[in-house]
Amino acid sequence: MGAAGLLAGLILVGALAPGVALGQQAAPPASPQPADLAADLANANARIKVWDIPDIDLLPDDEEGRLVRYGRSVLEASARHIGPDAADPAQRFAGNNLACANCHLDAGRKKFGLPLVAAAADYPRYSTRSGAVADLAERIDSCMTRSMNGRAMPRDARPMRALLAYLTLLSSALPKDARIEGAGAGAIPLLDRPADPARGAVVYAQTCVVCHRSGGEGLRRNAVDASFGYGVPPLWGPDSFNDGAGMNRLVTIANFVHDNMPNGVSWVMPELAPADAWDVAAYVTSQKRPHRDGLERDFPDLLDKPVDTPYGPYADGFSQTQHKYGPFGPIRAEIARLKADKGRVPNPNVR
Ligand code: HEC
Ligand code: HEC
Repeated sequence: MGAAGLLAGLILVGALAPGVALGQQAAPPASPQPADLAADLANANARIKVWDIPDIDLLPDDEEGRLVRYGRSVLEASARHIGPDAADPAQRFAGNNLACANCHLDAGRKKFGLPLVAAAADYPRYSTRSGAVADLAERIDSCMTRSMNGRAMPRDARPMRALLAYLTLLSSALPKDARIEGAGAGAIPLLDRPADPARGAVVYAQTCVVCHRSGGEGLRRNAVDASFGYGVPPLWGPDSFNDGAGMNRLVTIANFVHDNMPNGVSWVMPELAPADAWDVAAYVTSQKRPHRDGLERDFPDLLDKPVDTPYGPYADGFSQTQHKYGPFGPIRAEIARLKADKGRVPNPNVR
């Protein structure tokens, strides 16, 4: 199987190119050229196409090298180090057994797989959700309290220092405030109808259930010891991200799923039609998941609130259902109008 598998892999790589040439989406970056990088860096508004990511395995085996490697492990084997069943009770910061890398794919290095390559270059930055400047540790903590359904980590906790060291190394080739191509999860076209969870259930049964299972519970790596984490992560239920997480917003999850699922596909050659991605995302976000208190205080300026935030209050008159499922075009237009009109709309729950 080894040699045949390798050969098939090579043929597959060859086969990707024609699909791209036919205009599936934008062409993938050619092999990294120093000249490209120089041109990227010269143009302040351009998104950096070629990611120059240092090879962690080439770091020396000194204190810094070990901290960076541990940081990558915290990202990939989060449940082992900081999960609810981690060996050291003092290190149990996460409330679920997800791994950061279940969403930040390929250890934070995948285009449109919520990459973390530019994070250390982009923070500190203003957070519209909290209405204050957040540094990178605070941004990590907002995934800790939402995506990982847990609690903030003290800055001097070793897993936090290690994550910061790993992310800092990922960004080490980038200038401050760099904008990278492939940031986030993509931008499939909006639907002009609400996303349909019932249709999404059919897509789920056809495309997702084989891995994520019928109760959305995924597949643990080890049946008795949860700290091994997941071979396939849960999409809802008690061990999933909570209702305040970015992945619980329809635009985010629909794009993530379109560009990355079934696991192994990429934005270069997605498998799902955009409408199927919207509908299956609506099915997933309709399911039960842990609740986070205090969400009504997110976004001190309600005009900064993303249109797909599934919880109020809102600046506009659209229903919560429309904010959950769309269509988002009319909401975006109304927000733009209110912005021009009022500038800001203070959140009544924040003072
Ligand atoms: C359930 C999916 C999920 C998990 C698990 C998750 N994140 Fe995130 N993370 C996101 C999403 C989605 C965003 C994009 C921001 C948004 O839409 O709110 C994000 C954004 C970030 C950012 C900011 C990136 C940038 O460039 O702005 C950092 C840093 C980050 N996450 C770190 C982590 C770390 C560290 C962990 C593990 C402790 C983690 N995340 C776990 C989904 C997740
Ligand atoms: C071949 C198995 C497989 C299939 C099919 C698949 N997934 Fe996944 N999915 C995974 C794996 C594995 C991960 C975690 C990736 C990682 O850790 O590198 C994942 C991650 C995710 C995540 C982010 C992590 C989380 O827990 O929320 C979402 C959302 C998701 N999948 C949704 C879907 C949807 C919707 C479908 C169907 C359209 C689907 N997946 C099909 C295996 C699969």
